[in-house]
Amino acid sequence: MRLLVTGGAGFIGSEFVRMTLATHADSSVVVLDKLTYAGNLANLAPVLHEPRLRFVHGDICDAALVADLARETDAIVNFAAETHVDRSLQAPGRFIQTDVYGTFVLMEAARHAGHERYLQVSTDEVYGEVLMGFSAEADALRPRSPYSASKAGAEMLVSAYRASYGFPALVTRGSNTFGPYQYPEKIIPLFITNAIDDRPLPLYGSGEAVRDYVYVGDHARAVDTVLRRGTPGEDYNVGCGNEVNGIRVAGEVLRALGKPESLIAFVQDRPGHDYRYALDSSKLDALGWSPQMEFAAGIATTVRWYCEHEDWWRPLKSGEFWEFYRRNYKPLPALAACRDF
Ligand code: NAD
Ligand code: TYD
Repeated sequence: MRLLVTGGAGFIGSEFVRMTLATHADSSVVVLDKLTYAGNLANLAPVLHEPRLRFVHGDICDAALVADLARETDAIVNFAAETHVDRSLQAPGRFIQTDVYGTFVLMEAARHAGHERYLQVSTDEVYGEVLMGFSAEADALRPRSPYSASKAGAEMLVSAYRASYGFPALVTRGSNTFGPYQYPEKIIPLFITNAIDDRPLPLYGSGEAVRDYVYVGDHARAVDTVLRRGTPGEDYNVGCGNEVNGIRVAGEVLRALGKPESLIAFVQDRPGHDYRYALDSSKLDALGWSPQMEFAAGIATTVRWYCEHEDWWRPLKSGEFWEFYRRNYKPLPALAACRDF
């Protein structure tokens, strides 16, 4: 299979590329990536020498470029997206552009190139917050942040292309993912790198919001499973069924690093904060996938990786990162005078 992997220099996309090249000797990969603040060629360093990999620096919204690359390949796996909820609250426009319009450009190119498979990497956040029970694939999409709305908008287009053109699209809806090579803005890599430097770990609101964390290797394998064994036209949840709140994330990180709980700092809640996501992933399990990494073991592995790869993440926590950070985190009014975030 000749794959066009968009967003392949990002966190999950690069894991998928490294895994594909290691496990499918008959597959080749073209990575198309814009190298935004979240994209990093260093994520592909372990495989850049590989003759079955070609890297193209470009934008999924560039229709002419995407059409050329689609003609050279058999299937598209679309990881490319703006992905951070807090950034979508500050600047939603580029989420609509990349996540919605970019998906349209990719599907048009795939359709005209006659591809028999297209995989849209989506998120559990499209279901909106689920206070009780578990989301199943047939549930309604009720996104509540500009990020999740942009991912749901892309899914609406996928759905329309399936109905209108018989477009052979598969969708994966993954839960919160963690592991090596994750840009240090999402909770786990942010807390690990802050704790290494004895900086506060900012927990939104009460710290009780729940996520279902999946390890990056398990998520990449799920995408591979759906791509190769899934049925076009179907959607697949990707979750582990564990429910972890922010307080536990902070506790596991601090324990793994031997740092004190006094580093936890409650801050003003995220606007529109989804209190809980939870997935029923039995449809994916039926394809033969099961997660291999347990949460605490995954945290220990991830903490070790960040401790051993300061050269990878330290340059990312500079300049623009701290501008975003200062705009984003607001101390609780009572603490405003005594804590510096
Ligand atoms: P990431 O932010 O680490 O990487 C995104 C990649 O896309 C970067 O390499 C970036 O340069 C690239 N990109 C952005 N805009 C582009 C454009 N216009 N053209 C080409 N490339 C562009 O993201 P991630 O965490 O690896 O997420 C990958 C996918 O998985 C996304 O679609 C995301 O919505 C989905 N997802 C992520 C999570 C998670 O917890 N991280 C969970 C579920 C689903
Ligand atoms: P995040 O990693 O941003 O993923 P998402 O919001 O897309 O699920 O956040 C995961 C959870 O952690 C969410 O409930 C918000 C919370 N959180 C904090 O408490 N502090 C933080 O600094 C961040 C980034 C997230």
